[in-house]
Amino acid sequence: MKTIIVSGSVGTGKTIIAKKLAKILKADYINITELVKKNKIGKYNRKYNSYEVNIKKLNNFLIKIIKKSRENLVIDGHLSHYLPKKYADLCIICKCNIKKLKKRLENRGYSSKKVRENLDVEIFDVILEEAKDRKHKIIVVDTSKNYNLKRLLSKAFFS
Ligand SMILES: Nc1ncnc2c1ncn2[C@@H]1O[C@H](COP(=O)(O)OP(=O)(O)OP(=O)(O)O)[C@@H](O)[C@H]1O
Ligand SMILES: [Mg+2]
Repeated sequence: MKTIIVSGSVGTGKTIIAKKLAKILKADYINITELVKKNKIGKYNRKYNSYEVNIKKLNNFLIKIIKKSRENLVIDGHLSHYLPKKYADLCIICKCNIKKLKKRLENRGYSSKKVRENLDVEIFDVILEEAKDRKHKIIVVDTSKNYNLKRLLSKAFFS
């Protein structure tokens, strides 16, 4: 059974890609944001309207799920790449053209500060670099261009 993690900065298309992948691989789909809320893995920060997540706790939670699972798993979230390499067969990093990403984030009604912060994460490839540091087997998918997930998957697993 395979575990695939899907990470990337906010709005780069993780959820869309992860759900497509889950369908292709007949895998169980796990959304980290939902997992954190449901299982109280994070502390809610009202000021930022977001959850501060303890990565160690999250990883332990995910590792338990992975060990128990009898199915392929697709894990969706911008914290998924913090999972130790040995638990992930493949790490997909979503990227997006900066102009398009700016539009996506503005369309969500984010403040200009929040848009700027998230664009910086994308511009400096923060998540891709973190995933490389953890030595994951990585494929990058630019969701602002055409891509063929099935082809990317077979290349990743059979080459
Ligand atoms: N391949 C694509 N083509 C066009 N638009 C896309 C594509 N992928 C994603 N989008 C658009 O980008 C937006 C964000 O996509 P998605 O919700 O999958 O991102 P995300 O990375 O999961 O975001 P978050 O970090 O908030 O979870 C969606 O509203 C969708 O319309
Ligand atoms: Mg998402």
